[in-house]
Amino acid sequence: MRVCSSHRKYLKTRRLPACVSKLESMAAFIFTLLFLRLSVVVAMATPAIRESSGPSGTCYDWGESTLGRVSVLEGEAGWLSCPLFLHPSLYNYSSSQKAGHNLVWYRLPDGHDLEQPITYSAQLSKERERLWLQPAVANDTGQYTCMLRNKSHCSKMAVRLAVLRRKEASVGSECDLPVATAAGQVVIPLQWGKTMDCPDWQDAKNMSDSPPTVTWYHECQQPERWTSDREQKDVGLQIHFMVDQYQGLYYCRVHYQRAGRALVFTRSVNVTAVYSPRLPKEPSVLQPTQDQVFTVKPDSDVRLVCRGKFPYLDSAWDIWWTIDGKTLEDLADTRFSRTNKQVSYDYGDRIEESVLLIQDFRSEDLAKTFNCSVKNERGFHTRRAHLQEEVSLPSVELGCGLAVTLVLMLVLFVVYHVFWLELLLLYRSWFGTDERYTDDKEFDVYISYARNSEEEQFVLRTLRRVLENELGYTVCIFDRDSLPGGTITDETLSFIARSRRLLVVVGPGYASQGSQALLELKAGIDGVLGGHLRVILVQYKPVRRQDWVRELKRTRVILALVRWQGEKSKELTSRFWKKLRVELPVRRVGSEEAGLMSSGSRSD
Ligand SMILES: *[C@@H]1O[C@H](CO)[C@@H](O)[C@H](O)[C@H]1NC(C)=O
Ligand SMILES: *[C@@H]1O[C@H](CO)[C@@H](O)[C@H](O)[C@H]1NC(C)=O
Ligand SMILES: *[C@@H]1O[C@H](CO)[C@@H](O)[C@H](O)[C@H]1NC(C)=O
Ligand SMILES: *[C@@H]1O[C@H](CO)[C@@H](O)[C@H](O)[C@H]1NC(C)=O
Repeated sequence: MRVCSSHRKYLKTRRLPACVSKLESMAAFIFTLLFLRLSVVVAMATPAIRESSGPSGTCYDWGESTLGRVSVLEGEAGWLSCPLFLHPSLYNYSSSQKAGHNLVWYRLPDGHDLEQPITYSAQLSKERERLWLQPAVANDTGQYTCMLRNKSHCSKMAVRLAVLRRKEASVGSECDLPVATAAGQVVIPLQWGKTMDCPDWQDAKNMSDSPPTVTWYHECQQPERWTSDREQKDVGLQIHFMVDQYQGLYYCRVHYQRAGRALVFTRSVNVTAVYSPRLPKEPSVLQPTQDQVFTVKPDSDVRLVCRGKFPYLDSAWDIWWTIDGKTLEDLADTRFSRTNKQVSYDYGDRIEESVLLIQDFRSEDLAKTFNCSVKNERGFHTRRAHLQEEVSLPSVELGCGLAVTLVLMLVLFVVYHVFWLELLLLYRSWFGTDERYTDDKEFDVYISYARNSEEEQFVLRTLRRVLENELGYTVCIFDRDSLPGGTITDETLSFIARSRRLLVVVGPGYASQGSQALLELKAGIDGVLGGHLRVILVQYKPVRRQDWVRELKRTRVILALVRWQGEKSKELTSRFWKKLRVELPVRRVGSEEAGLMSSGSRSD
């Protein structure tokens, strides 16, 4: 039950017999009884603004202040401001005093249900619109009501006071001082300077007998240890050059004297660093990028992500989507919705994200313009999100097709690498043209080699035998096929000219100066350049790269290089013979014709 009471004629509960004994209290009691009857009206009044009857006229009860409770640390100085004056358009302390209003406080201690008068003392005093607690004690906790009244008018409003014990107010870290109030916020640009004031220290000035003093703390930093970058200047703390590690909670203690008593209160300031104001501050759309394309699937949900960068500015900013120039609010279509969140925060620069969710995407949505825009005090930026319909391929078929293709490619790869010679030979045997029908040459192969060397044995015993007897080629070897009479040189040249291929057997002894072999080789090269001969190098033994080999390579006259691999190459099915056959004119092995031709050549 609430009762409206004047300063002198306050209430007493019946539970306070000690007071009843006083004569003055008796008078108050009589008044109280009188008011209690009237206060029935209060209970029946509307809950928002309850009217209760005063001694004359009505009292507007604004209820409890919506700004929340006031906290004070036990043992520290604190105060309550009459919440009526927080609405300066309605109530003004100086004007109300001039108009002859009185300000009266009373309180409802925790656990009591009747309001009590306030006994003013040095510890609890009224100064203008404030009720000071110097210092606060645990018993002060409760609801306080201030009432402003004249003879005909009355208004009142309540505020809750909590006196916190030190351990309740402590934040956690050992460096933290207990503070009952929320931290003040101070923003300092990096590399800049600023002087901070202790919140509320000015209030102590009016109460103090002598100028108040302030001590500053930061992260266990002793006040006397402030460096030249940060120093205490009078009551303020000056930061000359802001750096990252100067961020955090600072504490300041205000000390003052009143009527010979030392009083103190503690406040905290949260210091944060931001990027310099000299940096560009225009916002920008980071995503979608200029050429980003969102692939969308009709009949599914589509998410368009927009990210905007907002450099630090102490002003409002916004990020939003428009569809054909209309905001979601204007559009009022439930298919479109958005969610916003902060992605990063770095010294005041923030990246914000807005995701536009389009439910049940329709084909006609593709024609719409989706723009994401960002804005702050310094600028505006917008960018269009380009949409493209997803080309739908049935994934199973795609997967199978891909797998089959890969397997086929692998098989072909293996087949080609293992059997390419065989394939080539097969191809030639079907489609190759027999050069015997298109030219008038006499020999298929002219074999050039170093005489009186290891190669000679190889040429005469192996190469010739296989080429003639088994493969059916007509072979010309100078020593054997030359006719007596003509000069060696002329004969050599004429034999080479009458051959389809020049087979050069290369060994360490090949191409020694002035030899027959060199002559043959030279004739061969001339023949190649004349366009009617092809040269095959058969490397019988590894030779050091010699100048003439390099020269041949460069003039690109060599058709192929086939290496004799010793024992491995003896079999007719070995790579050596296959490779050689590929380079030699087309001849069908084992055919009757081949046999005839070879015997014919021998008769030559
Ligand atoms: C209260 O009124 C006085 C004039 O009577 C004025 O100077 C003062 O600024 C007002 N205070 C507020 C908080 O509006
Ligand atoms: C009381 O204050 C109101 C304004 O709040 C004023 O209109 C009224 O005249 C005052 N009454 C007396 C008796 O001063
Ligand atoms: C200080 O302020 C920053 C940013 O406003 C906040 O992130 C941080 O949590 C605050 N620190 C404390 C200890 O209150
Ligand atoms: C959408 O953004 C583009 C830039 O990407 C701009 O040219 C266009 O005017 C914007 N459209 C609307 C409707 O805001």
